[in-house]
Amino acid sequence: MTVGGPEGRTGGRPEGRNIVVAITGASGALYATRTLAALLERGCHIELIVSEYGRRLLRDELGETASADKLMEYLASTFGENVRNGTYTLHSNKDLGAKIASGSQHSEAMVIVPCSMKTLAGVAHGLSRNLVERAADVMLKERRRLILVARETPMSLPQLRNMVLCAEAGAMMLPAMPAFYQMPQTLADLADFIAGKILSALGFEHDLYPEWKG
Ligand SMILES: Cc1cc2nc3c(=O)[nH]c(=O)nc-3n(C[C@H](O)[C@H](O)[C@H](O)COP(=O)(O)O)c2cc1C
Repeated sequence: MTVGGPEGRTGGRPEGRNIVVAITGASGALYATRTLAALLERGCHIELIVSEYGRRLLRDELGETASADKLMEYLASTFGENVRNGTYTLHSNKDLGAKIASGSQHSEAMVIVPCSMKTLAGVAHGLSRNLVERAADVMLKERRRLILVARETPMSLPQLRNMVLCAEAGAMMLPAMPAFYQMPQTLADLADFIAGKILSALGFEHDLYPEWKG
């Protein structure tokens, strides 16, 4: 299902950047929605995958209106109509035949936000059990940018080792650890900080948090 863009368009916006975003079942749904909104505002085409527990997380943490199947409406009402500058295609996590399951597709980068410890383990060990894990595996084998916004606390030794394995394979570990030196006032400020870090890692300019002046 492709959402947004001129009527009848089935692919991405040729002028926008094409990025895979996966939402899995770790706490921090607001990091995912803020990141998606920021990328859509910039005219990106998103190849979106939401795991079964990612779907549950969106509803549990943001309410019933944040359904994965109606995400554009939720994003527009929460972050403004500019999110319609971009488009997304929602893929089934079971569809291992989707184009993003292949190295010949053109997505330049992938972000898993938030990234559960289960998905982290799957990526670390190259399991490709579902489309999230397979698309991440494609990013690693093609030497493209893969950003994992892992969240768990405390962490077990296997989880810590899985982060090291992913980093050694070339992924960027960007754990959901907002900073407090920016004096955040709201939950939105915390989400802006993590989304800003993700955008920086993807090479976008942004003002999601104030620049550190030293
Ligand atoms: C509300 C909720 C919050 C959760 N938070 C976390 C979390 O922060 N980190 C984590 O690794 N798993 C968390 N889990 C457990 C994962 O959702 C579970 O391991 C699931 O199998 C992950 O599958 P997925 O990676 O395919 O989405 C949470 C589950 C629920 C229902």
